[in-house]
Amino acid sequence: MKFFVDTAEIAAISELNDLGMVDGVTTNPSLILKSGRDILEVTREICDLVDGPVSAEVVATEADAMIAEGRKLAGIADNIAVKVPLTWDGLKACKVLSGEGRMVNVTLCFSVNQAILAAKAGATFISPFVGRLDDINLDGMELIADIRTVYDNYGMDTQILAASIRSVNHVAEAARIGADVMTAPPAVIKAMASHPLTDRGLEAFMKDWAKTGQKIL
Ligand code: G3P
Repeated sequence: MKFFVDTAEIAAISELNDLGMVDGVTTNPSLILKSGRDILEVTREICDLVDGPVSAEVVATEADAMIAEGRKLAGIADNIAVKVPLTWDGLKACKVLSGEGRMVNVTLCFSVNQAILAAKAGATFISPFVGRLDDINLDGMELIADIRTVYDNYGMDTQILAASIRSVNHVAEAARIGADVMTAPPAVIKAMASHPLTDRGLEAFMKDWAKTGQKIL
């Protein structure tokens, strides 16, 4: 499963990228706001840092304007994936932009039917929002599993990008189901290294090591 980082914070992307943990980056208007940066500048910096797809989201709501914004964002770098919302206009923009050979990430997906439409419109990625479904007492992971089944049934090659990932359990479950990609905040990716038994085991080893009175260096 590919790992995208869901942030526009350069330092956080850089730290994970140095460890080989970054296959791509996703941003959205809320993350741009959080970064306090200019969208064009920060997106260019991210593209300079990361080789994989970097999602940059349009903010227009009408297809022609989305297409114009998408072309401008795609002009930042070759590895831009234009992010469009899963609306009828977003699907029109997806069809045109993907037809021009650009990567398109269709975002704010909350149903299998929406995911089918995105695949038919040529989406490179479909972004089902797991955490936001869980927020309203639905099962976000069930949607990932359902889209996996339907895409596999018909050989649809749009990549399932599990988004709105909030916990390490979400990551493990998305991988088990077979999501192609997951995007998570840096803190979630770093939390994947933690396990209480690792901490407890290390503490015991350190105590015993101290008793040996030895040094390695
Ligand atoms: O990848 C989409 C993500 O940024 C939304 O996450 O936690 O705001 O639902 P969240």
